[in-house]
Amino acid sequence: MSKSAIVFDGVSKTFPKASKPSVNETSLVIDQGSFVTILGASGCGKTTLLKMVNRIIEPTSGTISIFGKDIRQQPLTELRRSIGYVIQQIGLFPHMTIEQNIAAVPHILGWERSRVDARVKELLELVHLPESFRDRYPRQLSGGQQQRVGIARAMAGDPAVLLMDEPFGAIDAITRAKLQDDLKGIQKQLGKTILFVTHDIDEALKLGDRMIVMNEGTIQQYDKPLVILDNPANEFVSRLVQSDDLFQRLQLVRTGDSMEPLTEDAPEGYPRITFDSSLKEALQLLLKHNGRSPYVVVVDGDGQEVGKITMNELSLVGGR
Ligand SMILES: Nc1ncnc2c1ncn2[C@@H]1O[C@H](COP(=O)(O)OP(=O)(O)O)[C@@H](O)[C@H]1O
Ligand SMILES: [Mg+2]
Repeated sequence: MSKSAIVFDGVSKTFPKASKPSVNETSLVIDQGSFVTILGASGCGKTTLLKMVNRIIEPTSGTISIFGKDIRQQPLTELRRSIGYVIQQIGLFPHMTIEQNIAAVPHILGWERSRVDARVKELLELVHLPESFRDRYPRQLSGGQQQRVGIARAMAGDPAVLLMDEPFGAIDAITRAKLQDDLKGIQKQLGKTILFVTHDIDEALKLGDRMIVMNEGTIQQYDKPLVILDNPANEFVSRLVQSDDLFQRLQLVRTGDSMEPLTEDAPEGYPRITFDSSLKEALQLLLKHNGRSPYVVVVDGDGQEVGKITMNELSLVGGR
């Protein structure tokens, strides 16, 4: 029997005023050293499940333990430092160099200069970036390179557990495949336990030693990817993993989860869509505008423009 790294015991989360739980009565054991992918449609509770592990979100009921210890029994800062966290959007501190970004945690931990220096060198090597990147700023790197720095930063304090929330969602297919291979290599090499959220079926199948399929806050199946493909537990899983339907895949993804930054003020006539709408709706808007607009403007709940969806994002998710 392998040792367990993360244990969920009857964990639920119902947000204030919500009519039903976002994560419902979930019990789950994540083995030490395993790479577990979490697959499910937008809004099914993947991010909520992940954020409860580092207590960005507190469960309504149930218990989560890491290496046998209830996460509420340890100081929050200590807990967060022991867990690497990588997400798609926020990424790096823009005003800090790559070196400063990677060294953020060691710095807080008060490591000596020489030790930090050696660690940064080691981590840059690990994620296959040249040492000359130390003094650059995030904006001087490509999206894929920035995500490599994000991974290096999350690993800086040598956490045993990494939480990754759609980390490669906004990256082109070729770069993404390379990042996936490298991440898998790093995980095997260092024996990290990884919980990795994705809405990309191929990514979930490729990376996971084990894979969780979620729907409406409930785990539908938790098994080896091949078992899930060969033996889907129910109709939902079967439709999800066997889907070759472009529209269905676009329906799975929220615009806010896959948009790129707006680099200009969007012209008046361009279509607008809220960040919680699906890419399917974004595609429909683009088609309706029939080439008069190169992108759909994504707005938040207050109508503020927060990003854009171009054919690029649509083909990333839709094509395979
Ligand atoms: N802070 C919050 N307040 C209220 N509802 C939330 C909050 N965060 C998430 N939700 C709701 O919980 C559900 C699951 O969201 P989330 O975990 O983000 O899904 P996923 O990551 O699978 O797209 C959604 O219905 C979402 O609207
Ligand atoms: Mg999410």
